Order: sequence, then structure tokens, then C-alpha cells
Amino acid sequence: MDKNKIEQKKPGSNQKGVEEDSPLRLTADLEGNYLLDERTSEMKWLGIFYSPAGGSVHRVAKMLKKKIGADKVDMFCVNDVQADRLLDYKNLILVCSSLGRSTWEREQRDRWAKFFPSMRKISLKDRLVALVGLGDHVTYPKNFVDGMGYMAELVTGLGGTLVGKTSTDGYVYEDSTAVIDDLFVGLPLDEDFESEKTDARISKWLDMVLPEFERI
Ligand SMILES: Cc1cc2nc3c(=O)[nH]c(=O)nc-3n(C[C@H](O)[C@H](O)[C@H](O)COP(=O)(O)O)c2cc1C
Repeated sequence: MDKNKIEQKKPGSNQKGVEEDSPLRLTADLEGNYLLDERTSEMKWLGIFYSPAGGSVHRVAKMLKKKIGADKVDMFCVNDVQADRLLDYKNLILVCSSLGRSTWEREQRDRWAKFFPSMRKISLKDRLVALVGLGDHVTYPKNFVDGMGYMAELVTGLGGTLVGKTSTDGYVYEDSTAVIDDLFVGLPLDEDFESEKTDARISKWLDMVLPEFERI
């Protein structure tokens, strides 16, 4: 892909094909697929992106922000931003729920589905991405936190590096696409039936993830 990649000069851009007032680089492969590539200016340390707003996912996103330190992190609901905002950050935490793999793409309430097409046009190369997936292990034991599995597939397909994989110890479920090589691809949380475990699970996970983020 790389050797076929050509830089496109956009209107208002300088001779190098990079807009003087924009840190975005627009590249395309020879089939005409455009890829928004990494920012050329200074990136910020950590962005939390979540959806939907107003429920358990939102509450967990706020808990993460508070525990990390509100001054150290920016937080966005994906309803309110375009996918290229992800490129502003070296490190990302993506928080999603699970709505069943078949309903994921058409669920109106959850704006991740609307975010995905534009997300597929960006490159997450050199980005560390940590996932938090909410689910319900009692009602959906065969698809526990499948949404996080979907997200992991997307992120790695875009070149992102997943951090914050967690042991399945302490979780009761029958099957999950979010488990690869006996590890969850991120942090599973069940606010419906195990909310009393959430605070400790987040703290333990952050103890593992934040040092990874500090390294770059
Ligand atoms: C229609 C529907 C489908 C769901 N499917 C799954 C599922 O497949 N796997 C799972 O673990 N949880 C599933 N859940 C549970 C949600 O992921 C869970 O309740 C989550 O905390 C909801 O977050 P929210 O309050 O931010 O929407 C489903 C919930 C609903 C309403």
C-alpha cells in the first residue's frame, strides 16, 4: 500500500502538498481511496471517545476522565465530532457498549455506527488505543461485550496498536468475540449486573494502561 501511496495537493496547500493552516496530510492509494494520515504538528496526549451519551457508557467515560485527571485528557461523544479528531491524540481510549453484532451497524441510538464509515478513512498508525466495552453477561452470555471485539478489529485494521488487554479471570460468560488468545481485547464492564466491580476494575486497568501511554 505504502509504495502505491501518492500525496494529493489540496487547494490552498503549499508545494509539499500540505495545507499551511492544517496539520492534516491527505494521501490516496492508486485506487483513489483517500486516507487522512497522521498530524504533522504536536499531538495531544490522550483523548477519550465514547457513545452513546446519557447512559452507562457515558457514566463510565466520566469515571475514566476523573480517575486519569480532568486536566490531562480531552473527552468527546462521537455524536459531536468527526473521526479525524482521533488524529489529534497520540493515545486513545474508546468506550462503547454492545448491542449485538447484527444490530450494531443499524442501531440509531448509538452513534458509533455513524462514526465508522469516516473512521475507516483514517490511519491509526503509531497510535496506542485502549478499549472499554460495556455489556451484560447475564442476558447476553454468548455475546458478552462483542461490541468491543468489533471495535478491536476495526482499530487494528486501521493500523492502531491495542493496549490494555485484560485477563478473563473473574468474568462469567459463555462466548465473546472480544476474547482473543484467552484475553479480552480491552476492559469489559457490566454496569447492569456487576456495577459494584466497575470502580476497582477501572483502577486496576488504568494502572496497566497509563504507563503504556506515558512511554510515547
Ligand atoms: C438491544 C440491546 C442489545 C444488547 N446486546 C448485547 C450484547 O450482544 N452483548 C452484551 O454484552 N450486552 C448487550 N447489551 C447490553 C448493553 O451493552 C449494556 O446494557 C450497556 O451497559 C448499555 O450501555 P448504555 O446504557 O450506555 O447504552 C444489549 C443491550 C441492548 C439494549
